Amino acid sequence: MSAVNGTPHLELTKVSLRYGEVRALEQVSLRVQRGQIVALIGANGAGKSSSLRAITGLRKVAGGEVKLEGRTINSKDRQEPAHALVRQGVAMVPEGRHVFPYMSIKDNLLMGAYTRSDKDGIAADLERVCERFPLLKERFHQQGSSLSGGEQQMVAIGRALMARPKLLLLDEPSLGIAPQVIRLIGRSLREINQADGITIVLVEQNSRMALALSSYAYVLETGHVALEGPSQELMHNDHVRRLYLGG
Ligand SMILES: Nc1ncnc2c1ncn2[C@@H]1O[C@H](COP(=O)(O)OP(=O)(O)O)[C@@H](O)[C@H]1O
Ligand SMILES: [Mg+2]
Repeated sequence: MSAVNGTPHLELTKVSLRYGEVRALEQVSLRVQRGQIVALIGANGAGKSSSLRAITGLRKVAGGEVKLEGRTINSKDRQEPAHALVRQGVAMVPEGRHVFPYMSIKDNLLMGAYTRSDKDGIAADLERVCERFPLLKERFHQQGSSLSGGEQQMVAIGRALMARPKLLLLDEPSLGIAPQVIRLIGRSLREINQADGITIVLVEQNSRMALALSSYAYVLETGHVALEGPSQELMHNDHVRRLYLGG
């Protein structure tokens, strides 16, 4: 089960991705070790979501390769389907959350367990998600549409956890969410990482949040990695401060 020591949990090597003529990613290389929180920051259009699409195989790459635990999952010649990745422990919290408005919170959460058949395990995980986000328990039988943006984000994260992932990918979880709730979500992500040992890739335009939570970060600019390093160092980097932290 466990890979050779030192094999990254996730590795992109010179990944390029296009939408027709648009070159969204140009030779992006990045590496995520098991148990790490790694941030991908950058402006709107920099290629953050495209990087996640390359990882999850939502879009075939034009060059390079994506490896999960040392195994190629996406390259020019190979594209692992999304449901196969879920079984290999990859879960995604998409941008915009995509909570089902006419389903209860409970059913929304259960959607995350669709690849599983271990009833007892699912029930136990549902309980754990409710402990992690007590607010959801209070509203268990309410419809998704009755929730605020922050609460929907909790549902989206909870739903991803219901797949029992080893690697959690999040696309801009702070987008459109009130500052206090962003802090709450940040704390939850740290707990999910530390207590459950889940590796996290955090895509954010909110560089402050992302650098505070992560141990290592990549800065994407127009489809390539402009800068990378330990998050603490990037926080004090002049370029990062000027462009991404408002001075
Ligand atoms: N479906 C698409 N069709 C054409 N161009 C796209 C599509 N999605 C994204 N792009 C373009 O690809 C580039 C990277 O976009 P994206 O990965 O969404 O950036 P980010 O998530 O950092 O905002 C941008 O120039 C964007 O306009
Ligand atoms: Mg995006």
